[in-house]
Amino acid sequence: MDGSGLKNYCSTRLGLRSAVRQQDGDTIDNRIAPSASPADHDANLEPQSLMADGADHPPQILFPGKLRAHGSILSNRSARDLWTAAIPWKKMSDSPRILDGVAIAAQIKSEVVAEVQLLQARGITPGLAVVLVGEVPASQIYVRSKVKTCGELGIFSELLTPPETITTSEMLALVADLNDRDDIDGILIQLPLPKHVDTKRLLEAVAPGKDVDGFHPVNVGRLQSGQPGLAPCTPAGIMEILRRSQLPVAGQNAVIIGRSDIVGKPAAMMLLNASATVTVCHSKTTDLPRFTQAADILVAAIGRPGYVTPEMVKPGATLIDVGINRITDSAEVEKFFPGDPERAATFAKRGSVVVGDIHPAAFARSGAYTPVPGGVGALTIAMLMQNTVTAAKLRRGIAAEKK
Ligand code: GUN
Repeated sequence: MDGSGLKNYCSTRLGLRSAVRQQDGDTIDNRIAPSASPADHDANLEPQSLMADGADHPPQILFPGKLRAHGSILSNRSARDLWTAAIPWKKMSDSPRILDGVAIAAQIKSEVVAEVQLLQARGITPGLAVVLVGEVPASQIYVRSKVKTCGELGIFSELLTPPETITTSEMLALVADLNDRDDIDGILIQLPLPKHVDTKRLLEAVAPGKDVDGFHPVNVGRLQSGQPGLAPCTPAGIMEILRRSQLPVAGQNAVIIGRSDIVGKPAAMMLLNASATVTVCHSKTTDLPRFTQAADILVAAIGRPGYVTPEMVKPGATLIDVGINRITDSAEVEKFFPGDPERAATFAKRGSVVVGDIHPAAFARSGAYTPVPGGVGALTIAMLMQNTVTAAKLRRGIAAEKK
């Protein structure tokens, strides 16, 4: 089958009129094998960023019709209430700083809107193709969020939904078609793919200039050699949190727990490029606390609830929590959030709450930390949008702004 034939049955152009909620994010080491149910992910969608009409309709993803949305953006959500009951030894005056990923994401998205408008004035509408194979419920929810955000920001999006049975060569044809299309600047192949599909081969087939995930070896190499390119969204979001919060990176000891291709490795490279002294720890690291206790910046991306405990944290450190782990056991909820009425209410309502890779009690020792939810997860889609605009510019020889 050639790519165009395939497109005929699996391409859906999307019309999204109202955007109400935005997915808070996704786990990283977990992301290739999402474990949460769709209900879990729905529960993780938090009300924020109402569109101008204030409508509260769920986004529709299987609704044909071309999207050329010109979204208005995005009121910042008010500062998240922080639960402090578990950190009684901490005086309010030296409370850690909460790094509000939602607010930072909103700032980035408003910048993206401005860039989109400038491009549109030149007759260019950035376009993102999202390929979702089969019917993995968690992936459907991630994808819906990505597509919805495109609509909010004025980015054209197209969802392609080939069936689970698609072969590697059919997928290669589909990608080749997207590579050739002038209205598509970015291509995102939602992972995980079915086992019979050769994921690495496919990711390498995406044109590097359209690789808005930053997974192509050319972009991995560019990141490694400090050249401009498209960089993976979650670690790029971490760097934006640090940069926009004016937290020092150069000369700091940065320790990353987790060595995934999506987060751990590229985060290490970005922190190194920013002149941190970087250590990557992982499941085989012996005496992990020895490393974490020396970390001025500690990035936890291991996909295990509450894995980093207070005694592992250097006092005053910056804690970046990439994990989003859903807990459904009330005893676990009480263990992580003792006496927290807000979490108890969430648990009563949804039957689950999320906890990061860092134990909530550890935040009290930090100088600054990203909450879960509302921290790093919020940045991932914002960076995808930014990458799509960057790809649109690079492809047309328009200089990307240097940060
Ligand atoms: N699945 C879960 N997270 C991601 C991501 O960031 N990119 C892609 N392509 N697939 C994912």
